[in-house]
Amino acid sequence: MAGVPVAPPAFDPVHSAFASDAVGSRRRLRGWLLRSRSSGGILFFVLRDRTGTLQVTAKRDRLGAEAFAAAERVQVEGAVQVEGTVAADARAPGGRELRADRIDVVHSGEAFPIFADQTEEFLLDKRHLAIRSQEHVAIFRVKATLLRALREFLAAEDVLEMTPPVLTGNPAEGGSEAFQIDYFGRPGYLSQTAQLYLEALLVPNERVYALTPSFRAEKSRTPRHLTEYLHLEIELAWCDLNDLLSFIERMVASAAHTVARERAAELTQLGRPPEELLALTPPFPRITYRAAIERLRAQGLPVELGSDLGTAEERALTLEERAPIFVTHFPTRLKAFYMLRSPGDPETVEAADLLAPEGYGEIVGASARETDIGLLIERLRETGADPATYEWYLDLRRHGSVPHAGFGLGVERLLRWILRREHIRDTTPFPRTPSRHTP
Ligand code: 4AD
Ligand code: MG
Repeated sequence: MAGVPVAPPAFDPVHSAFASDAVGSRRRLRGWLLRSRSSGGILFFVLRDRTGTLQVTAKRDRLGAEAFAAAERVQVEGAVQVEGTVAADARAPGGRELRADRIDVVHSGEAFPIFADQTEEFLLDKRHLAIRSQEHVAIFRVKATLLRALREFLAAEDVLEMTPPVLTGNPAEGGSEAFQIDYFGRPGYLSQTAQLYLEALLVPNERVYALTPSFRAEKSRTPRHLTEYLHLEIELAWCDLNDLLSFIERMVASAAHTVARERAAELTQLGRPPEELLALTPPFPRITYRAAIERLRAQGLPVELGSDLGTAEERALTLEERAPIFVTHFPTRLKAFYMLRSPGDPETVEAADLLAPEGYGEIVGASARETDIGLLIERLRETGADPATYEWYLDLRRHGSVPHAGFGLGVERLLRWILRREHIRDTTPFPRTPSRHTP
């Protein structure tokens, strides 16, 4: 609003000390103490805020004995406000330091329990504090940008965000992997997929997506399974498998490019050269399940036509790849009841998994959907499910059932590959695994 005086910001961001004209100028900074040491009446510490880190030096003579002693008592991760002059100093990280003439202790804190060489288990117990590390900060910045990039792509494609429930009355992806809860004396389930709800929302909206947590009660202790993960799911009307795969590859490449452009420093810090992501260009290679089995047998893996592709098989298929690949047309019996049987070959489905390269494996499950109510009921029976529990879903095939297709992408799976992490738990602040649901 014109005419309203704007007060100057009371504090400067730490990174402002590195501006080209900052040397010699005054700064007021606030943040947390990364580390400190004191000797001969001089206190050195590194101050961190969301914008960066800066060495701060303070002299007892300048601060006064009492203020100096208080500043010396501040523990790692304690909070302070400092005022002083920016100086150039070749010995300081980044060549700058703040020479403080005032330090206000906001919270001196207790001894910080996290330091070098602690066990993974201990760090997971202290996850609420461990996530302050520079590495975690970088990972979750990349994740935030990835989520924004995916949403921006979907908005540009005119796909509408929907908000399906995660508390449900029937499991959708096979009952054995659903977490069952007591819903006021009746069985309830934590959602494994929003797909069935998105199929219901599809009819008036034609292009819909949801970004919700999905839950899997799999006791798989693998580097790629979480019991709670963030699931990006999309349903598109008037869409076949071919159109769907081109949508997926454009989405993945676009999101990877945005992350590479906007988070180059973090990617480099975490060991993924951004150029590798910028080099991704659709279309991604496509091979059929049958060809994948032949390739694996040629590599000497003990697989048969009809066996599912597990971690080891996906790893072998993608280890030498530099871009993701689609494996298409899986055997019908291996896949979910809602997948469309291939025209001319009811033994396979119009489905594909997108496998991340470098051995990472499945990040997307996709298929065209069965529109015929009779075939859906038959497939439900074959998989041992009671069609009566899917009554509301079957209604969708009674009223305006049209060709459509959709997919689910595991956000942490995608991020694990983008960041080249060994374990998927690194990609989420509070990982949920069979052995852990705290903190
Ligand atoms: O292949 P899934 O099980 O497919 C579905 O749930 C479909 N209903 C999705 C849809 O079409 N709307 O799961 C989709 C993706 C997988 O490709 C994988 O990336 C991720 O979800 N995912 C997991 N991510 C982390 N931990 C787990 N335990 C996961 N299980 C699946
Ligand atoms: Mg799958």
